[in-house]
Amino acid sequence: MQLEHILKSYARYAPVYDQTFGWMLSYRGRTMAAGVTNQRPGKVLEVGVGTGISLRYYRREHQVHGIDISPDMLAIAHRRVHKARLSHVSKLSLMDARDMEYEDESFDFVVAAYVMSVVPEPAKVLREIERVCKPGGDVVIVNHFAAERGFRRNVEKMLAPLSHKLGWRPDMPVEEILSNTHLREVKRHQLPPLGMFTMLHLKKER
Ligand SMILES: C[S@@+](CC[C@H](N)C(=O)[O-])C[C@H]1O[C@@H](n2cnc3c(N)ncnc32)[C@H](O)[C@@H]1O
Repeated sequence: MQLEHILKSYARYAPVYDQTFGWMLSYRGRTMAAGVTNQRPGKVLEVGVGTGISLRYYRREHQVHGIDISPDMLAIAHRRVHKARLSHVSKLSLMDARDMEYEDESFDFVVAAYVMSVVPEPAKVLREIERVCKPGGDVVIVNHFAAERGFRRNVEKMLAPLSHKLGWRPDMPVEEILSNTHLREVKRHQLPPLGMFTMLHLKKER
């Protein structure tokens, strides 16, 4: 994925995102991801926060930061925070997830929902996520990963050449990001519809 395509796509999608992708991409993934963070209060970073569709699911004792590369998506997130008085959201910033402007070990939790197959260099993004996460902290990734076999695998292979048009990679294997990290896998959940999405709960060792 190239940055200019991402910016163009999300400028177009932003006004209708919540009613289309926001709805199609499983809500369960977003609520489960927030659920992992809601076990204890802490500082949360949501990477690729988009229109801020998940922000209301975080507990109010958290201090939540959101970053996104698309000014159009972020503008909607800002409006949402203001309108719904989401006072636990302390900062929304325009930032590239491949090169975050945060110190090492800044956050207790880092969440990235439906972002990894959209960003240009997913392995680099996961390394950044690992860097900004505190030792003992939790990372939650929700994403569509390539099926290993079967009918879904065939459909994904067919769609792969259309990645640029679709604006996401239908055939990204989970190993592409996991083989590049020291984060330990705690749990892997398949999510509806039909197990098409995966929630990965990862931990940064102390
Ligand atoms: C499919 S949307 C997901 C939005 C939201 N997390 C959700 O659950 O609906 C992907 C988001 O990732 C953002 N994104 C893509 N590349 C990025 C990058 N390099 N850095 C930060 N955000 C990025 C896009 O602008 C978009 O808002």
